[in-house]
Amino acid sequence: MKPKILISGNLLEEPIALACRGAEVDLHAGEEPLSKAELMARLKNKDGLVCQITDLIDDEVLGAAPGLRVVANVAVGYNNIDVPAARRRGIVVTNTPDVLTDTTADFTWALLMATARRVVEADRYVRAGKWRKWEFMRLLGGDVHGKTLGVIGFGRIGRAVARRALGFGMRVVYHDTVRVDAAVERELRAAFTDKATLLREADFVTLHCLLTPETRHLIDAAALRSMKKTAYLINAARGPVVDEAALVQALTEGWIAGAGLDVHEHEPEVHPGLLALDKAVLAPHIASASEATRLKMASLAVNNCLAVLEGKPPLTPVTE
Ligand code: GLV
Repeated sequence: MKPKILISGNLLEEPIALACRGAEVDLHAGEEPLSKAELMARLKNKDGLVCQITDLIDDEVLGAAPGLRVVANVAVGYNNIDVPAARRRGIVVTNTPDVLTDTTADFTWALLMATARRVVEADRYVRAGKWRKWEFMRLLGGDVHGKTLGVIGFGRIGRAVARRALGFGMRVVYHDTVRVDAAVERELRAAFTDKATLLREADFVTLHCLLTPETRHLIDAAALRSMKKTAYLINAARGPVVDEAALVQALTEGWIAGAGLDVHEHEPEVHPGLLALDKAVLAPHIASASEATRLKMASLAVNNCLAVLEGKPPLTPVTE
């Protein structure tokens, strides 16, 4: 008999077909994520779950599925899953590292460039029919080339972002809980520094850390006040890493020059203060959203799920 899996949100056709070859699939293809009660009800008789970051997989949800053996998140971040609770219950948790690294780094740069060079404002200006004549002083932005990039969280994505900075002749400083090998620092021309120095010196602060109790509000009012007035904050990690209320105050009062945000503290709600500010470039959590990468992420998650159900080791387990 085939194992039973729940796919809690729609995926591309190919990974769904892959799942159907190895398992009996219950697919939730609706627009809205399943409510907690629906998720628990549909998980009751399942052996595996392929879920997304909008599904909160806590101890109660895990407890509703006595036969569950694997939770395969279609994301690299897994703050939506209570990993220790899963471990206590003998449930394997997997994520999708590597396959999205470059796509996410590309988008981080898109946000960075759009924020510094006011691309979104420029587009709105043209579409509004306001462009009547060329003006020397219109939409002046900040330069990117030759500036200092401060990367907080120097894992795969942080390093891929730093690698792209080489092409812009930037100085790169980074901060993380651990220092990378000297060879990596040399290759990326990146210097390890403490958080306070990074915030003080960087022209662009870009966030690439996991959301943990330690990184929640890592960028708070004090951090924002310590940045240069001409600096920009870029967040393609997780919204709650930034204290959004403090960020709105920082942008409104000119503590920093701008912010590019792919992620938000209370997704899908966006802070009304940010919506009102041209200095903020806002995206709906799409950094990994290229067609090719979303296909790879979904396929990896399905393969992780099937591997565990076939008694094999998962390809990319969460090992925290
Ligand atoms: C997306 O946010 C991810 O963690 O993959």
